[in-house]
Amino acid sequence: MQGGGRMQGGVRIGSGGRIRPAGCRVASRLDAGRPAGCRAAGRAAAGWMQGGRQKVAAVPGEGGGDRRDAGRRTAVAGGMQAAEKRRRGMQGGRRKLQGKLAPPLQLCRSAAAALSIALFSYFALSIASKHRRATSKRKNRPSRRGIVEAVGNTPLIRINSLSDATGCEILGKAEFLNPGGSIKDRVAVKIIEEAIESGDLVEGGIVTEGSAGSTAISIATVAPAYGCKCHVVIPDDAAIEKSQILEALGSTVERVRPVSITHKDHFVNIARRRAVEASESKHSFFGSDCKGGFFADQFENLANFRAHYETTGPEIWEQTGGKVHAFIAAAGTGGTVAGVSRFLKGRNPEIKCFLIDPPGSGLFNKVTRGVMYTREEAEGSRLKNPFDTVTEGIGINRLTRNFVLAALDGAYRGTDREAVDMSRFLVRKDGLFLGSSSAMNCVGAVRLARELGPGHTIVTILCDSGMRHLSKFYNDHYLKDHGLLPSASGLEFLD
Ligand SMILES: Cc1ncc(COP(=O)(O)O)c(C=O)c1O
Repeated sequence: MQGGGRMQGGVRIGSGGRIRPAGCRVASRLDAGRPAGCRAAGRAAAGWMQGGRQKVAAVPGEGGGDRRDAGRRTAVAGGMQAAEKRRRGMQGGRRKLQGKLAPPLQLCRSAAAALSIALFSYFALSIASKHRRATSKRKNRPSRRGIVEAVGNTPLIRINSLSDATGCEILGKAEFLNPGGSIKDRVAVKIIEEAIESGDLVEGGIVTEGSAGSTAISIATVAPAYGCKCHVVIPDDAAIEKSQILEALGSTVERVRPVSITHKDHFVNIARRRAVEASESKHSFFGSDCKGGFFADQFENLANFRAHYETTGPEIWEQTGGKVHAFIAAAGTGGTVAGVSRFLKGRNPEIKCFLIDPPGSGLFNKVTRGVMYTREEAEGSRLKNPFDTVTEGIGINRLTRNFVLAALDGAYRGTDREAVDMSRFLVRKDGLFLGSSSAMNCVGAVRLARELGPGHTIVTILCDSGMRHLSKFYNDHYLKDHGLLPSASGLEFLD
């Protein structure tokens, strides 16, 4: 069968399949194109064959006088002759085969050689260009030192009062512990780093943002770590302490009248304009040393989604050891719910993800009925009274690029009264002094816990602390004016 092995396909030129060392088969098939190591292996195999023949030939020369030996010698000699005949026959066969198949065989070999050279060149070139791309990205990649290193990896804390009241484990991601005081630190870092990596932002540049507060404060906090500055455009109905903090952090701040996003002077549109003006050194806000502007664009910039998909979501997964049944949060830009829901469902599609939506926001209807619609707009009350909600940073009436990536199973509505009462309940029972969006998230967590029933682990986000909300959400005069003075002693406000 050795010969048969050798002849199969006409390309096994070395020894037969059975006696040839296994590692050499591929090399022998490619023959002309094979690498040196395999060529040597092929030679070794030929030597092995040679040695085998010599061994057999040496037996008759050993001597020995008895008949048995003679008989054995005869048998061996007979065997030798037969073997020699077979060998000659095979050589003849090979010569015949070579004579007949030589041109196609040669063609085959050349084609194989050309193919392997082409493949090798292709892979070498693509590896080299990948390496060049990675090196140039690495060159731009900012190092994570100083304050930036302290962003993220926040504790996931058990909210004892809500867990005990519902029989579920209600866990809050303590984002208020980030250095800039909110979950938006993650987003600020990611937006700035991606902009620097792409070359859209350079050291000495200015990051502009239209933000009701938290994102701007986070950008203002981390921008200096990258040698950049921050300019913020903010609606003038946002809590005053937010612009005070921004200015204290060295940002320039513009407080503008709240108008529709379709208006050219909506705070987001002004911020976008300011970035262009900074690049063209057109505006007095920016000194002559400004190295260009970059509009952070947290609503539409998918670095926002990626910040949560790459950090918040994985941290929740790790911290719960994958034992999480549900996640719930409100949406402003939608970056948090989108990034976290996508990540968790990617790990386990059984994890339920929900939205809690404040008054005046169209997202509840979008998630539950597929249409963006708010009662307030339908009744035209927004025109008479622009006040929709006491909560800040959450609720929206348009679909952002970040929100559309969310993987949601459903939505709840939350009221301002519920958020206010929840915030006071958590201060009293748990010592948790939280901002309005966190309080709304906890309203959602209890709703969800009651629907799922005891025994489930539910995670929500504690976005920022109550410190940022003293002038409105924690101001009894303000709340009284809006009929929102807290009154509940327990969780009866959710019944
Ligand atoms: C305090 C606060 N909480 C929650 C949110 C909502 O998060 P996201 O924008 O990821 O939807 C925001 C957004 O600005 C915020 O400022």
